[in-house]
Amino acid sequence: MNKITIAIDGFSSTGKSTVAKQIAKHLGYVYVDSGAMYRAITYFAMQNGIIGENYFKVEDLIAQLPNVNLHFEFNKQLGFAEVYLNGINIEKEIRTLEVSRFVSKVATVSQVREQLVKQQKKLGQNKGVVMDGRDIGTVVFPDAELKIFMVASAEKRATRRYKELLARGDKVSYEDVLKNVEERDFTDTNRKDSPLVKAHDAIEIDNSDLTLEEQFNRVLELVNTTLAENK
Ligand code: CDP
Repeated sequence: MNKITIAIDGFSSTGKSTVAKQIAKHLGYVYVDSGAMYRAITYFAMQNGIIGENYFKVEDLIAQLPNVNLHFEFNKQLGFAEVYLNGINIEKEIRTLEVSRFVSKVATVSQVREQLVKQQKKLGQNKGVVMDGRDIGTVVFPDAELKIFMVASAEKRATRRYKELLARGDKVSYEDVLKNVEERDFTDTNRKDSPLVKAHDAIEIDNSDLTLEEQFNRVLELVNTTLAENK
């Protein structure tokens, strides 16, 4: 059977990565979390005094980009690939609310996007990939055989992310998580370069009231139809 490319875009905390991982595992495809790459560059910028509470030295970040080397390594135990920055596993460090607070600003920088999109295209060049993000169906893989656009209410999304962060042991408030979700929605949809927008040929799924199982089954149905069309 021919392998296809599956692009899953949508707002923050819509459960894109959960369903993308499940589908990749089911099909034996590679899963790529493009958001992890933007988070990794943001973490680098935070560590190097490039971005902080009241400053963002964009020119410094652009100058330092050649020193940012990202790669993924599959972790058998976890069942997905973890992100490495200059050889160091930073999977845990990039998931904090602090990184979430700066990442959308970093993601507005065209030079950052250019570097990451190039790498993302390479990761998917042999098809058999499920990639999630904001611009996968519009910019990274405009020819993807299946494009899904995930939405859910801001409150539902904030509740999910809040629970995730608490489970990790992070001390955060629901109000701060909701504020971050809303701010990132705004920045991601309003930036000049590759804004978050539903591709004209994407299929929208609102998972506000879907269980994980219902969501998986809905996506799997779409995947099976697309696979049959691309035999
Ligand atoms: O997990 P969550 O949905 O909260 O976010 P993420 O997928 O980890 O992405 C973090 C941020 O990176 C987003 O809010 C965007 O600002 C940026 N991003 C992007 O611009 N383009 C992508 N393809 C993926 C992420």
